[in-house]
Amino acid sequence: MAYRMIKTEGDPILKKKSRTVTEFDERLWTLLDDMKTTLYKAEGVGLAAVQVGVLKRVVVIDVEDDHGFMELVNPEIIESKGVQKESEGCLSFPDKSGVTERPMYVKVKAQDRNGKFFEVDGEGLLGRCFCHEIDHLDGISFVQRLAPGERVHLSKD
Ligand code: NI
Repeated sequence: MAYRMIKTEGDPILKKKSRTVTEFDERLWTLLDDMKTTLYKAEGVGLAAVQVGVLKRVVVIDVEDDHGFMELVNPEIIESKGVQKESEGCLSFPDKSGVTERPMYVKVKAQDRNGKFFEVDGEGLLGRCFCHEIDHLDGISFVQRLAPGERVHLSKD
C-alpha cells in the first residue's frame, strides 16, 4: 500500500471527467489500497481517484462514524433530501475552505471492489462527503458549490 501524491489546484486533471470502472481486477485493488493509505496519511475524510491522477470513478471515504472506511466504485447519487450549508475543504485545495450548499441527506448506489452493487446513505458530514467526492469524478470542485453570497477563505483568514 503506497502513498500517492495528491494533485492540487491548478492541475488540469482535476477538471476532467473520470471513466466508469469495468475491470474489477488487481489493478483496481491496488489503486483502492493506495488511496486508503493516502487518505489516512493526508488526514482527509474522502479522496477521489482523480486526486491521485487516475481518471477512474473510484472514491474512498472515512468520516469516522459507524460506517468506517468505505470504498465506492462507480458511485451515483440516487436520492437526496434537504439542504445544508457548512464549511468545506478539500485535500486538493489544502489552504482553502468555503461554505457550500449541499443536500442534507444523500443515498448512493455504488459497486464494491469485486463489482457487487450496494446502497449506502448518510446525512450531515457523510452526505456532504458523498456529494463532494462524486463531484470530483465529474471534474467539479467544492469552490464551484459555494452557497449564495459565500466566498473561498484562505485558512489563515
Ligand atoms: Ni476534494
